[in-house]
Amino acid sequence: MKKVLTILFSALSLSAAAQQTPRNQLTPTPPMGWMTWNLFKGDINEQLIRETADAMVENGLRDAGYKYIFIDDLWQGGRDMHNNIIPNPKKFPSGIKALADYVHSKGLKLGIYSDAAQLTCAGATASLGFEEQDARTFASWDIDYLKYDYCNAPEDSATARRRYKRMADALQNSGRDIALGVCEWGQRQAEEWCESVGGQLWRTTYDVRDMWKDIVHQGGMGILDIINITAPLAPYARHGQWPDMDMLVIGLNGNGGPSSDLGGVGCTYTEYQTQMSMWCMLCSPLALTNDLRKLTDEDRRIILNKEIIAINQDKLGKAATRVVNEKDYQVFVRPLSGNRHAVAVMNTADKAQKLSVIFKNIGLDGKYKMRDVWQHKDIAKKANKWSGNVDAHETKVWVLE
Ligand code: GLA
Repeated sequence: MKKVLTILFSALSLSAAAQQTPRNQLTPTPPMGWMTWNLFKGDINEQLIRETADAMVENGLRDAGYKYIFIDDLWQGGRDMHNNIIPNPKKFPSGIKALADYVHSKGLKLGIYSDAAQLTCAGATASLGFEEQDARTFASWDIDYLKYDYCNAPEDSATARRRYKRMADALQNSGRDIALGVCEWGQRQAEEWCESVGGQLWRTTYDVRDMWKDIVHQGGMGILDIINITAPLAPYARHGQWPDMDMLVIGLNGNGGPSSDLGGVGCTYTEYQTQMSMWCMLCSPLALTNDLRKLTDEDRRIILNKEIIAINQDKLGKAATRVVNEKDYQVFVRPLSGNRHAVAVMNTADKAQKLSVIFKNIGLDGKYKMRDVWQHKDIAKKANKWSGNVDAHETKVWVLE
């Protein structure tokens, strides 16, 4: 009898294992979706998540590729008498499983948040010492993604690697495909070890703020600051391993919760367009955080631009190289599938300027058809250079073929 049971048990665990996707294939392209934190902070509940799911379908966001709803910090309600992590019953009275069912019924996926310590960044219950139990709980709720933060944890890299691996292993053994976002803010070079511990993406900086750059010097990260930190990490980006440049602040207009701290006074739409351009050029996940129930035409123009999204999701999976890094402008080249290239020219100066790019000088020695992905039109048939006006903080993006 014992033998029969053992055989049966191994067959069952084998079939569970066989159904699971290898961890390095969990996010073949950068995940896209919406994250609760930067506007709503702890002011979240199941109604908001359901309405956001509806909005993602109605606005065409889901069909454009935004598939995830990432529940961030402050969803937790402690642990029950069996030490199972539970949601805050006031915010999620129907429980997370029911919410996941709803989100899945809309063709979307659900992400959740925890931290590799006893408490999260906002002081809620976290997973240290409960990794296996929490992973099983998340799997039983049909969670698809875990953002795993690193507040209240030791600073050294060895401990971080150990703690992330412990959670990744626990997710792997949970019987469900749950991707893992490593969120140690680039302080321990996670780009070097993320894959080996079982993670799929690595945050490159401290938290994004709704601003162009940190001029108040309080340590907040503006769009340009994040680009400058992430650009040198481009060689680490590859299939299933993505540089997470933090949330898109597009559409927050200085009214975001945490992203309005530390000088986050808001950006112009030209700057938001640059954020979208460069997050796409550098293969970052795209996590919106504005209120999707109240999109403006300008928000839609940027976040629903299918041509820029196609660059982000390109199946070659290579991030752009910064080929020019001058004081007042930068140029990036990203190889795309089909022997094409995306080229981005970013004006970092505070005023408009005329810029020229000679393609041979950036490694593109030929004559190219040029498609401007923000104007949605072909601008040249056989070009070997470009020159023109670029507004302050604007980024032009072309596909060359
Ligand atoms: C950290 C993370 C943020 C967010 C908050 C939640 O600051 O970097 O993205 O998840 O914690 O408390």
